[in-house]
Amino acid sequence: MLHFKRLVLLSIVVLSALLCFVTTTDQRNSTNAFYYGVLPENFTWGASTAAYQIEGAWNEDGKSENIWDRFCHEGGHIVMNLTGDVTCDSYHKWRDDITTMNEIGLKHYRFSLSWSRIVPDPTTGVVNEAGVNFYLNFITAVKQAGIEPMVTLFHWDLPQILEDNGSWGNETIIKQYQHYADVAFSRFGHLVKYWLTFNEPWVTTWMGYGTGQYAPGTKQPATLPYLYAHTIIKCHATAWRLYDTTYRARFNGMVSITLNTNFYAPKNSSKPEDVEAAERAAQFMVGWFAHPIYVDGDYSQVMKDYVRRNTNSTDGSSRLPTFTDTDKLFIKGTFDYFGLNHYTTSLCEPSDAAHQASVPKGYLGDMEVKLTVDPTWPKSPSGSYIVPWGMRGILNFIRTHYNNTPVIVTENGLSDPNGTLNDQFRIQYLRSYIDELIKAVLIDKCNVIGYTVWTLMDNFEWTSAITKKMGLYYVDFDDPQRRRVAKQSAMWYKRVIADRGFPDPVLIG
Ligand SMILES: *[C@@H]1O[C@H](CO)[C@@H](O)[C@H](O)[C@H]1NC(C)=O
Ligand SMILES: *[C@@H]1O[C@H](CO)[C@@H](O)[C@H](O)[C@H]1NC(C)=O
Ligand SMILES: *[C@@H]1O[C@H](CO)[C@@H](O)[C@H](O)[C@H]1NC(C)=O
Ligand SMILES: *[C@@H]1O[C@H](CO)[C@@H](O)[C@H](O)[C@H]1NC(C)=O
Ligand SMILES: *[C@@H]1O[C@H](CO)[C@@H](O)[C@H](O)[C@H]1NC(C)=O
Ligand SMILES: *[C@@H]1O[C@H](CO)[C@@H](O)[C@H](O)[C@H]1NC(C)=O
Ligand SMILES: *[C@@H]1O[C@H](CO)[C@@H](O)[C@H](O)[C@H]1NC(C)=O
Ligand SMILES: *[C@@H]1O[C@H](CO)[C@@H](O)[C@H](O)[C@H]1NC(C)=O
Repeated sequence: MLHFKRLVLLSIVVLSALLCFVTTTDQRNSTNAFYYGVLPENFTWGASTAAYQIEGAWNEDGKSENIWDRFCHEGGHIVMNLTGDVTCDSYHKWRDDITTMNEIGLKHYRFSLSWSRIVPDPTTGVVNEAGVNFYLNFITAVKQAGIEPMVTLFHWDLPQILEDNGSWGNETIIKQYQHYADVAFSRFGHLVKYWLTFNEPWVTTWMGYGTGQYAPGTKQPATLPYLYAHTIIKCHATAWRLYDTTYRARFNGMVSITLNTNFYAPKNSSKPEDVEAAERAAQFMVGWFAHPIYVDGDYSQVMKDYVRRNTNSTDGSSRLPTFTDTDKLFIKGTFDYFGLNHYTTSLCEPSDAAHQASVPKGYLGDMEVKLTVDPTWPKSPSGSYIVPWGMRGILNFIRTHYNNTPVIVTENGLSDPNGTLNDQFRIQYLRSYIDELIKAVLIDKCNVIGYTVWTLMDNFEWTSAITKKMGLYYVDFDDPQRRRVAKQSAMWYKRVIADRGFPDPVLIG
């Protein structure tokens, strides 16, 4: 009897939690209207890039080969077999990049360091002073322009020698990553306020070692993504703790990780099973990394349960590795903010047999969620779905699941195939997504402290190379000078930054 009462009570608690989730996440009907509002003076506005995508100079001044160099040079992976050997040539043209940042009036600029430029052979740990000096000159100049550098330590470009020595499965990499982070913190720490340990570890692990679409092209969807993510989480925690104990008092910066995630909405928010599927998908995507770091040092229970039951072992073991109690204490709380990369939204319902059969066995199958889109959603010129209310949804998800941690949106943007200067569709996209962010801050009280457009200029968009243009600036890749030309969105964004959002035309007259 008592047991039964407890069960009823528990069901009520669970149901009200689900209902609460429904009301906070299903904003499809009430909130699509444009909302005028401005953000605080200290809200930071920026644009992003990444080393492999803009630097070029792939083998200059002592830089060693990384997995993207190898992957592109191999051929057969990238559209037209293009490479990032030169791309925007920012290694030589970084002064032009700073000119564009100044033109827009950016408050911060997010970019990544190339590990193989700074420590070409991490197995010896010898520092390449030419690489350090390149970044020191660049960061100093960014800072002198009045722009805060936001530095990502790892944006997918693993030194090839580490890939060849067991990749993220070889725990020696934790010490090697720590050494690299130490070099970066000690050489650049006095100039850098915002650090990011990893960009989108989901992409590194799933696309690199699950589907194999990205470098190094390994296809082990059942095992390697979980094993490698496990090591990456430990590397992240190691770098954060190094900064915390050794550099924080001197430099007072903020260290975090950047996670990519769609907003996961229930397909039918009146169906509890769809609501549950949306929560499960989010826990597998963003929660895979966020739950250990932002909640309790461990994977979420739902992720542990679903990977275990899909492992199908006779002894109850799971393909998802386990953290020891020491690991959990070490990992929990290793953040100063939440870096979020967000572009689009998925609708969720429980998987069925046909869907399970259609996804690779492993990570994607383990979550048992069928992800779809609403075919009526508008699409970008490159075909991705535009769902502005998902920005508000994911920011509220972070508010409710991760204790309203301060968030910096570290990427958001839109691609097109030709890089037209008259990019009204990009302005529409950014305007609607930024507006939903403003609603999240001003109406929902989400603690968002910064926003960053992907990307400053058209660059090497991984396997799409130069066929997807996402820049505020156009770059002609046939022009040896690689001149940067402002698109209309650049000047529009300049205005948004100056206005701190969208001031009400009625209020300001
Ligand atoms: C409310 O949202 C649902 C789901 O997106 C949609 O099908 C319906 O048309 C919307 N209703 C109104 C009045 O916009
Ligand atoms: C921004 O300023 C407000 C008050 O003016 C303050 O409460 C908040 O902590 C500041 N935020 C950041 C990120 O510095
Ligand atoms: C790209 O490289 C692969 C592997 O070397 C080769 O088979 C293919 O023909 C190349 N494609 C183009 C368009 O050059
Ligand atoms: C480490 O990588 C180097 C360079 O690719 C290779 O020669 C060596 O055999 C690798 N060692 C191990 C133990 O895999
Ligand atoms: C792990 O990496 C180190 C060097 O980075 C190498 O010496 C060692 O042999 C590697 N172990 C395995 C199992 O590949
Ligand atoms: C959503 O689910 C509810 C409850 O099962 C159902 O009554 C309703 O018809 C569904 N809506 C759609 C659009 O399928
Ligand atoms: C585990 O077993 C279930 C049910 O028997 C089956 O549908 C699924 O494909 C199996 N998963 C793997 C990874 O073998
Ligand atoms: C470039 O793409 C945009 C968006 O698809 C389109 O509107 C425009 O006409 C295209 N311009 C050229 C020159 O192809």
